[in-house]
Amino acid sequence: MEIKIRKATLDDVKDMQEFMFHLMHDELVNYMPTNKVKWAKSKKSHEYFVNRIKKINELAIIAEFKGEKIGYLSGYVHGPLPYRTEKKFGILGDMFVVQEHRSKKIGTKLITEFKKWAKKRGAKVLRIESYSANKKALKFYRRQGFEDSSTILERKI
Ligand SMILES: CC(C)(COP(=O)(O)OP(=O)(O)OC[C@H]1O[C@@H](n2cnc3c(N)ncnc32)[C@H](O)[C@@H]1OP(=O)(O)O)[C@@H](O)C(=O)NCCC(=O)NCCS
Repeated sequence: MEIKIRKATLDDVKDMQEFMFHLMHDELVNYMPTNKVKWAKSKKSHEYFVNRIKKINELAIIAEFKGEKIGYLSGYVHGPLPYRTEKKFGILGDMFVVQEHRSKKIGTKLITEFKKWAKKRGAKVLRIESYSANKKALKFYRRQGFEDSSTILERKI
């Protein structure tokens, strides 16, 4: 299968916003009903993806199959943290593969590319925050070598 993983350009921003909309509308809403789905197509999300493309410590990559965009990943490196010895962390922000192309290792390829990029920028650890109820995504990340590290707890007040 001809899967191409490449860096996103400004021409991809609208498509990434569309992917983000599907990610939020079709998937994440099941795990976090108070997510603002509208955000995905807002000026702010436009800015979010432009930053991912333009800023040196940020990354957006696109997966293509026969020239058609079928998924993306966005993330950044940051650090150091005052309470950790590692100088830099690679933070995986969001990723999405269209339904009909899932389970074909495209997500794996996107993570591999992100890992390479983050490593080059000095990251020693990759991190991802995932909704606890998104069991499929958790299974995917664990298969990619991620281990449970901390838990974010919330309560309504
Ligand atoms: C998570 C995701 C990016 C993985 O991409 P992918 O190309 O399917 O990944 P791979 O083919 O490398 O790995 C497949 C594994 O991912 C897991 N997976 C996670 N979410 C899945 C989903 N919604 N559908 C199918 N498999 C999913 C399964 O464990 C699957 O293993 P299997 O093929 O043995 O069933 C993709 O499935 C997706 O977009 N899911 C919905 C959005 C989401 O939850 N994103 C992560 C939160 S930001």
